[in-house]
Amino acid sequence: MNLLLYDAVIFDLDGTLTDSQPGIFACAKYALDKMGLPIPPDSTLRRFLGPPLAESYINYCGMTEEQAAYATDLYRERYIPIGWKENKVYPHIRALLKSLKDRGVYLAVATGKPQHTSVDILRYFDLLPYFDAVAGPAPEELHADKGDLIRRVLPEGKRAVMVGDTAGDIKGAKDVGIASVAALYGYGVDEEVMAAGPTHAVKDTKALCELLCPDMEKEKGFFVTLEGVDGCGKSTQAAALKERLEQFGYSVHRTREPGGCPIAEEIRKIVLAKEDGGMCAETEALLFAAARAQHLKDVILPSVEAGQVVLCDRFVDSSLVYQGMARGLGMEWVKEINRPAFREGAPDATLYLRMDHEKAMARRLAVDAPDRIEQAGDSFHARTEAAYEELCRQHPDRFLPVNGDQTPEQVTEDAFSALFSRMRERGVL
Ligand code: TYD
Repeated sequence: MNLLLYDAVIFDLDGTLTDSQPGIFACAKYALDKMGLPIPPDSTLRRFLGPPLAESYINYCGMTEEQAAYATDLYRERYIPIGWKENKVYPHIRALLKSLKDRGVYLAVATGKPQHTSVDILRYFDLLPYFDAVAGPAPEELHADKGDLIRRVLPEGKRAVMVGDTAGDIKGAKDVGIASVAALYGYGVDEEVMAAGPTHAVKDTKALCELLCPDMEKEKGFFVTLEGVDGCGKSTQAAALKERLEQFGYSVHRTREPGGCPIAEEIRKIVLAKEDGGMCAETEALLFAAARAQHLKDVILPSVEAGQVVLCDRFVDSSLVYQGMARGLGMEWVKEINRPAFREGAPDATLYLRMDHEKAMARRLAVDAPDRIEQAGDSFHARTEAAYEELCRQHPDRFLPVNGDQTPEQVTEDAFSALFSRMRERGVL
């Protein structure tokens, strides 16, 4: 049975597919600042989301046409290199587009944002392949009517619907005689959008999915671990990767080991205590394994099952490296006590931040007081580095090595691009 109400869906971009507010606000403020003009409150800046820029500068900042043209140039000065990337795909949108495409639905974008910028944004987020057509004003068009933009991408003989967050989107759909969905999670003022008379209204993207694709597949989760010698910069990268994945529309749960849930955090205190209480290597390994078993059951597995990307700072490879190799307990024994992590809890990908252990430790000591494990001698840390390299050779299908000896921004770029391609290879789109 075909559950689809519509077999052609035309989306607005800003406030419907992506949340472009951070980039637009920052660029609007940049221009005002350069002109020495006061910055209006965010409630006024919200009015900039949607209408042509110059119009907003005139209406909300009291500029003349000439000033508004200059402000628009300044805005672009920041928007072109940086601002357009300060954008975020709304949750569930990736999965919705894929599900609709898989069902043969015609997909298009009709936006007031310039055509080339819109295509760049969709390409950057790897959403462009889902769309059959994209319409936005050409560079010479100062203002394009929404109905006209919809007409440019409207296919013949299909049950089409326009999804948008402003009254202009709903009116445009009416002008061309198609149904509409008001995306109330966007920037439009709810009363204005509803007054335009949409066919449907949704309060969030989950409701949009239910309306457009009621039998949509469950979103696929993904379990990523971050590994590397002490001081290689994993925590910084975990934070940056979470942000980047969320910009791409994924729901991310960031966690760490040892720890990540109340029982495991208690174990962490014991195992990483600064004073040397004479803990033997076996106890240490068993404590890490105990913390991990709880963490997997309470946090990691349920989050992956719920379709999230789990980003875990250290996991079982740390035990193989630190306890198995560096402390000399042997890989086999460590594997044995960590069985859950090799069965249902195996990571889908492991980002390995490759870095010389001496360089990494020097960096680490410059900022932090070392814990019990970091206090171990130099040959211990040299063994951890060698052990990581060995694991990397043994599991090329899981390990994604990244050069950690670069600027943090560059490491994030490399790590994200390796991770994103791996996710796509594994069907997490
Ligand atoms: P942490 O403060 O998380 O350090 P880092 O930010 O460098 O990861 O401390 C974790 C320490 O515990 C680190 O030295 C590695 C060690 N460790 C093990 O020895 N075995 C394990 O299984 C795990 C998870 C960590």
